[in-house]
Amino acid sequence: MAGQAHIIVIGNEKGGTGKSTVAMHLVVALLKMKASVGSIDLDARQATLSRYVENRRRRSDAGASLALPDHAAVPPTDDPARDEASFLEILYRQSALHDVVVIDTPGSDHPLSRLGHSFAQTLVTPLNDSFIDLDVLGKVDPVSMKIQRPSHYSEMVWETKKQRALRGERAVVEWFVLRNRLATLDARNKREMERLLGELSKRIGFKQLGGLGERVIYRELFLEGLTLLDLGSDTGLALSLSHVAARQELRLLVEGLGLHRFIPGALAGDSSTLSVTEGNPTP
Ligand SMILES: Nc1ncnc2c1ncn2[C@@H]1O[C@H](COP(=O)(O)OP(=O)(O)OP(=O)(O)O)[C@@H](O)[C@H]1O
Ligand SMILES: [Mg+2]
Repeated sequence: MAGQAHIIVIGNEKGGTGKSTVAMHLVVALLKMKASVGSIDLDARQATLSRYVENRRRRSDAGASLALPDHAAVPPTDDPARDEASFLEILYRQSALHDVVVIDTPGSDHPLSRLGHSFAQTLVTPLNDSFIDLDVLGKVDPVSMKIQRPSHYSEMVWETKKQRALRGERAVVEWFVLRNRLATLDARNKREMERLLGELSKRIGFKQLGGLGERVIYRELFLEGLTLLDLGSDTGLALSLSHVAARQELRLLVEGLGLHRFIPGALAGDSSTLSVTEGNPTP
């Protein structure tokens, strides 16, 4: 890789697991930790991340003064070679300019998504807390409730590591699986998921991250171009107790990923800037 940036890919072949939401929250977390950040939307047909950034830019232009990433999308054409060349040009440019590049990918298998995955140094896979979502990582025997074998997305990750090794790059990829939309109830399902993910993580080599709860606020912030990390004094929008808990989950995510390692001059405790420091939250 030509540049110096650390490359974080958000991926899962299953749709709707929270990839774009997590991508935007990581981008803003990194910006708040004073990183210079590039972001690339490889799901430019749906363009959730691009529209999220656009909404943020609009709000910032209207006077909110919000930190923004250097964002680019790679809209798919009918010429895969051209799409690949456009992506590589953007990636090389952003890598040379920034500390971190965050890449959002589509919820389906696509050559451009595979190429993006092959550049991941950190891969984050958000996963809804359901056996349907687990199925893209590993096949579970419904009788014994044991993992039978790795599934198609896990195999794809393995293939993209090989793709990277073929380019002559050291294929060191830290793979994190992040449980998303965790319910407050349904303790049995949660426990089973935890057990199966634990089994699978040893088998295919990912680390499990604590997880983000199911919260309406994630859906509401998109049109505002804001993340949970912007609530409070930055924007004048009130923080509730539930938002405080959600922010704590995000902080644990940032710490779990060790993002400070990719920001020059940042220290392990620097993610504390993401916790709540202002005012009393409203219940
Ligand atoms: N923790 C959460 N709590 C509540 N809603 C959430 C949470 N995370 C994501 N969502 C919502 O779930 C939906 C899917 O999220 P998102 O678009 O980020 O997923 P995705 O994996 O990028 O989807 P796709 O595969 O279609 O690109 C959105 O409506 C989003 O607001
Ligand atoms: Mg998406």
